[in-house]
Amino acid sequence: MAKIYRDNDVDVSVLNGRKIGVIGYGNQGRAQALNIRDSGFPPMIGNRDDEYKSRAIEDGFAVRPIREVAKEAGIILLLIPDEVQPQVYEEQIKPYLRPGEVLCFASGYNVYYKAIVPPAGIGAIMVAPRMIGRAVRNLYQERLGFPCLVAAENDPDGQAMRIAWALAKAIGATRLGAFESSFREETVIDLFAEQMLWPGIIKLCLLYFEKLVANGCDPEIVTTELHLSGEFVEIAKAMITHGFFGQLKLHSQTSQYGQLSRADRMAPAELLAQIDKAIEDVSSGKFHAEWVKEQKAGKPNMSRLWRRALEHPLVQSEAKLDALREIVARSYEGRSQGP
Ligand code: NAI
Repeated sequence: MAKIYRDNDVDVSVLNGRKIGVIGYGNQGRAQALNIRDSGFPPMIGNRDDEYKSRAIEDGFAVRPIREVAKEAGIILLLIPDEVQPQVYEEQIKPYLRPGEVLCFASGYNVYYKAIVPPAGIGAIMVAPRMIGRAVRNLYQERLGFPCLVAAENDPDGQAMRIAWALAKAIGATRLGAFESSFREETVIDLFAEQMLWPGIIKLCLLYFEKLVANGCDPEIVTTELHLSGEFVEIAKAMITHGFFGQLKLHSQTSQYGQLSRADRMAPAELLAQIDKAIEDVSSGKFHAEWVKEQKAGKPNMSRLWRRALEHPLVQSEAKLDALREIVARSYEGRSQGP
C-alpha cells in the first residue's frame, strides 16, 4: 500500500527563504495561495488583468504580471486551466526558468501528455488535491485537510520532492493524508473517471428516466427520485461512513437483493470492451490528441454535445421542479462549507 504522509511526516523548512509564486487565482489558485499564506509562506500572485486579479487584490495580495512572477519566484505553482497552460508556459514562464527552480502542477495532465516538457535542470513536481478549490480552503480553515497526490517528474538536486511534500503540508493536505503518486497515475485516474465512470453514470441516469417515462411514470416524480431528492448524495455519503457495500444495509432487504443480484448484468461484454477502449484512449494520449484538435477547431463537437444534453426531457422536467430543487439545494448549501 502506498504510504500516506501526514503532518508529522513532513518538514516545511525546505520552503524557508524561497520565493513562492502562484500563477492563477481561480478555483485552486485562490485556495492554495490563501492556505500557503496562512501557513507562513506568503506567495506572490501572477495573474493577467481580469476579475480573478481583482479578487486576489481584495484578499490582500500584491498581484503582478505572470512573467514577472516567473522571473522572481523560485517555486512556481501553475494554477491556471490545463488547456491554457502550454501556451502561457512557453511564452511567459519558460524563458525565465533558472536551474534549481521548481515548477509545481496541480494535475499530471500536461506533463504526462508532453504538452509541457520541463527542462532537465528544473524540478517538476505535482501536488494535486483530490478536492475542489472551495473545499481546499474551507477544509484548511476547519483544520481537516483533504487527500492529495504528490510526485516529482524531475528532481535534479534532490530538493524537488521535499518541496512537493512541504507544499502539500502548506496547503493543508497532509492534515488528512497525501499519497506518493506519479504524473501518469494522477492523469489516468482522473481522466478514466471522466471518460468511463461519470459518463456511465450519466447515461444510466438518462436511461432510467427515459424508460420509466416511457412506462407511464410521471417525469417530475422520476426526476425527484433520480437526483433532486438528495438521496443520491446521501448514498454517496453513506459509502464513506458505512463502506462502499456497507451502506446497502441502510436499504431494505429487497433493495439489497435487487442491487447485489443485478450488478453483474449491467456489464455485458460490449460495455467491457468500451471500458478497455476508454483506458487505452487515456493511457495512450489518443483522447488528448482528440481534445487538442477539438479545441483548435473552436470546440464544435463540444457545443453540439452541450446543445443535445440541454434538450433532454430530464432538463425540462428539472425546470418544472425549480422551487423544490432550490429548497433541497439550500439545505445542502447550509450543510456544505461556505462560499
Ligand atoms: P481555473 O479555471 O479556476 O483558473 C482560473 C485562473 O486562470 C484565473 O486566475 C485566470 O486569470 C487564469 N487564466 C485563465 N485563462 C488564462 C490565460 N489564457 N492566460 C493566463 N491566465 C489565465 O483553474 P482551476 O480549476 O483552479 O485549475 C487549475 C489547475 O488545478 C489545473 O491544473 C487543474 O487540473 C487543477 N485542479 C483543479 C481542481 C479544481 O478544483 N478545479 C481540482 C484539482 C486540480
